[in-house]
Amino acid sequence: MDFKLSEEQVMIRDAARDFAKAELLPGVIERDNKQEFPKEQVKKMGDLGFLGMMASPEYGGGGMDTLSYVLVMEELSKIDASSSVIVSVNNSLVCWGLDTYGTPEQKEKYLSKLTTGASIGAFCLSEPEAGSDATSQKTTAIDKGDHYILNGTKNWITNGASSDYYLVIAQTDKEKKHRGINAFIVEKGWEGFEIGPKEDKLGIRGSDTHSLIFNDVKVPKENRIGDDGFGFKFAMKTLAGGRIGIAAQALGIAAGAYELAKEYAKVRKAFGTEIMNHQAIAFKLADMHTQIEAARMLVYKAAMDKDNHENYDLSGAMAKLYASQVAMDVTVEAVQVHGGNGFVKEYHVERLMRDAKITQIYEGTSEIQKIVISRSILKD
Ligand code: CAA
Repeated sequence: MDFKLSEEQVMIRDAARDFAKAELLPGVIERDNKQEFPKEQVKKMGDLGFLGMMASPEYGGGGMDTLSYVLVMEELSKIDASSSVIVSVNNSLVCWGLDTYGTPEQKEKYLSKLTTGASIGAFCLSEPEAGSDATSQKTTAIDKGDHYILNGTKNWITNGASSDYYLVIAQTDKEKKHRGINAFIVEKGWEGFEIGPKEDKLGIRGSDTHSLIFNDVKVPKENRIGDDGFGFKFAMKTLAGGRIGIAAQALGIAAGAYELAKEYAKVRKAFGTEIMNHQAIAFKLADMHTQIEAARMLVYKAAMDKDNHENYDLSGAMAKLYASQVAMDVTVEAVQVHGGNGFVKEYHVERLMRDAKITQIYEGTSEIQKIVISRSILKD
């Protein structure tokens, strides 16, 4: 497997690294404290092309490969996972889903705004009683001829209030179970569409997570994505790619915490020497470095599988499962290396530790990844 990056990939990675240091780092603690959405920063990321990286250039996208997107996710996440999840949802769930399965009219009307950051998107699958068990959708979309009537509630929606367009999964024909599910593009401001209160979260506090309420919302038929009954497959296909983005986020969180711990160990003195000279610390750093390298290989491999048009359900799930565990392990150890300072906000590692946890939950919990992996390896 060749992980040598092309000149273009190195340029994109470096641009994301510079951007994260210059634009995301200032204010990251304050945004976390205040649960403040990084509006200005998102606008700048749109200008840099980070919001529609893999989408078709015809619709304003970057036409880039998944590995480039993963490199950007990794760099942004080293500094600010709240900003990187906005990038991840917009790129892999919303833009990719529309670019791959949308009609030319849907792409013209919606995708061309989402790729540039003129608009932001959200992916709405989870419900109060259907998070992991995604086939049990209670939100209904009743076919009324030229339109559908949407009713129900969605939960834990990233970009919940800040989005302009929402990809909403709903049950049209209960009898048909998952084959009766559809996906729709819903616009903010449509009658009967209400945004619920903001969740007060442990981590990724700068991103806005809301419930959404649909009360007799009229959705034109041309806003359905794919053929009737395609919605569940649409969600599964889209999430399979989304998991690579979240795996890259987990990798970035781990790498960011490790870099801070390493630098701290070089300058902090205890017992007459820099703490890196104590094996208790040096061995922690050795473990962290090894875990991160292993996670990176899984994440890049999954991205390359997608780019090579190979099946990436298994490699994406493995990458997310492992990288998110590494994010937890490494951030906890990074706090430990920092000692008392690790518990203090200005040293950043406590935030990275809090942010790490969500990577084991959203876009499929670790347990869901194990279902995907075990089914895949046991099916033959
Ligand atoms: N690609 C294509 N089709 C797929 C698929 C995939 N990766 N995975 C499943 N399917 C298809 C199956 O082929 C099957 O179709 P047929 O019956 O026509 O053959 C259908 O989907 C149902 O599949 P299963 O029987 O395997 O379904 P299941 O009920 O056993 O569930 C699951 C499978 C993997 C557990 C799935 O429910 C799942 O992924 N759940 C987790 C959902 C999730 O990730 N939620 C996160 C919310 S989104 C989010 O977090 C966004 C955010 O804001 C950050």
